[in-house]
Amino acid sequence: MLPADLTLLAIESSCDDTAAAVLTGGRVASSVVASQRIHEGFGGVVPELASRAHQRLIVPTVEAALEEAGVTKDDLQAVAVTYGPGLAGSLLVGLSFAKALALGLGVPLVGVNHLEGHVYSVFIDAPRPAFPYLCLTVSGGHTLLTLVHEGFVHEELGRTRDDAAGEAYDKVAKLLGLGYPGGPPVDRLAAEGDPSFRAFPSPRLPGPDGRPGYAFSFSGIKTNVRYFLQDLAPAERERVLTDHLADVCASFQQAVVDALVGAVRDAVRETGVRHVALVGGVSANRGLRAAAQAAAEADGFALHVPAFQHSVDNAAMIAVTGAFKLAAGQTSGLDLTAEPSLKL
Ligand code: KG4
Ligand code: ZN
Repeated sequence: MLPADLTLLAIESSCDDTAAAVLTGGRVASSVVASQRIHEGFGGVVPELASRAHQRLIVPTVEAALEEAGVTKDDLQAVAVTYGPGLAGSLLVGLSFAKALALGLGVPLVGVNHLEGHVYSVFIDAPRPAFPYLCLTVSGGHTLLTLVHEGFVHEELGRTRDDAAGEAYDKVAKLLGLGYPGGPPVDRLAAEGDPSFRAFPSPRLPGPDGRPGYAFSFSGIKTNVRYFLQDLAPAERERVLTDHLADVCASFQQAVVDALVGAVRDAVRETGVRHVALVGGVSANRGLRAAAQAAAEADGFALHVPAFQHSVDNAAMIAVTGAFKLAAGQTSGLDLTAEPSLKL
């Protein structure tokens, strides 16, 4: 599936991770991610700090990826780079670097949509899905259920109307004083908590027939967590935040996981498609992985979830997608610009 005779460097800098990967000999031979810890104290990514950090980190990150793969710049036959969606200033750092490198080496530049990178992240490692496959993309910026056909065709079944699933994790974590990014600590605490502690509203919206559909809303559940805490008397709130923190996390996570896995199961039933991919930062969630795996066994579909390091932002997925694009003859000109609001 991945071309054996191509050596390609991929660069990803759309948000707060500076990442580079090398594809060579038909496999991803290195994938380096420099995570920017500077945002932790701010409760979210500070765009100006992110782009400055990318400038500082891009050269050492690319050098580390080349070295780990055992290749030099002169071995490269193409450079793939994320050009959107994401933070404009962050995207521009990776994009300018990739353009300069491709121009200097005289090799093709391949622009990659970050979301498409997540969608094809299930091709980094075997076993790979067959087309068409259902893909649930759940990240900090997106929540999207698509049917992925061969030839870069993404048929949308549903998406979120407001916040993304990862955003809900981050905002709820902030309300609970758990820091940024919020997914990992909520995931950790949820494993020890009681999910029946409180019933939070389902983030799944009704479809045209009134039954749960494929569209989501995550702002409601976030607001519900906020009001639940706000409405408690100060002493009671203190008690909940100390004695029942894990239970609140488990209850929130249960509502999110039920909605996401429920939509996937219904889509499998409705479309008859037997391959399902779960991608994006939130697919690193252990509760979601376990529930999706149980559904796959019960309903008889093949579940494809990337390795943890390939669920969250990385350049290995940009390398794989870049190789697919290159094989299809889809290269980019040096006039490629950053597109912060790029859609799938
Ligand atoms: O895909 P990603 O790394 O970046 C975007 O493209 O947005 O996703 C980041 C999101 C964050 O909201 C983060 O809180 C969430 O993924 N996340 C998780 C977990 N690990 C990361 N959410 C739930 N459980 C996790 N274990
Ligand atoms: Zn992402």
